[in-house]
Amino acid sequence: MPKKLIAQGAEAKLFLEDGKIIKKRFPKKYRIKIIDDKLRNFRTRREAKILQKLQAINFTSPKLIKNDEKENLMIERIEGKLIKDILETSDYKKLCAEIGQKIAILHNNSIIHGDLTTSNMILNKEIYFIDFGLSFFSEKAEDKAVDLHLLKEGLESKHYKIWQECFKHAIGIYKKNAKNSDATLKRLEAVEKRGRYRAKKGS
Ligand SMILES: Nc1ncnc2c1ncn2[C@@H]1O[C@H](COP(=O)(O)OP(=O)(O)O)[C@@H](O)[C@H]1O
Ligand SMILES: [Mg+2]
Repeated sequence: MPKKLIAQGAEAKLFLEDGKIIKKRFPKKYRIKIIDDKLRNFRTRREAKILQKLQAINFTSPKLIKNDEKENLMIERIEGKLIKDILETSDYKKLCAEIGQKIAILHNNSIIHGDLTTSNMILNKEIYFIDFGLSFFSEKAEDKAVDLHLLKEGLESKHYKIWQECFKHAIGIYKKNAKNSDATLKRLEAVEKRGRYRAKKGS
């Protein structure tokens, strides 16, 4: 079956091939080649490592099928709609509570997602998180707080009518489920005062 392009982001092309997803980080002409190659390899390997860890803890994320250690990942395709496209017309309080609960699981396993937007979540039977290209391992309250702050910014910009309710529900469940959530939420207040954090992809 031929490959079908399903998405093109700032740093990767996503193809559907035989029911699987191929994520290919393409070269950036404006980067020096040697640096570009290193960066793409590093991000691909890092994303693979995180997906393996998530699989080990049975987290709702795509399974890693193959990794060429260079620029290609083959991952399981998750059927369903992006949360971005359905949040307003669904029981968003329930969905946001689930999002908060799942972020707590990630953080309890020292995984920072790095790009928590509703474009990186797919509703199947449960919510699946995707796009771990900016993810990393950390136990720091600061990193967890920035992760939550990015969730908030994403909700604010894409779901401006309901974002406050959504964030409240996500944080409410997070607080109950995440280890050291008091410290993280305290840190979040400090992060909010400092301003914008969205990491730039493809830079
Ligand atoms: N495992 C997957 N199953 C189904 N769709 C996916 C999967 N991974 C990515 N996609 C689709 O491709 C889009 C872009 O993929 P993503 O990993 O978020 O890359 P980008 O870095 O471009 O944001 C997603 O928003 C989603 O629509
Ligand atoms: Mg994405």
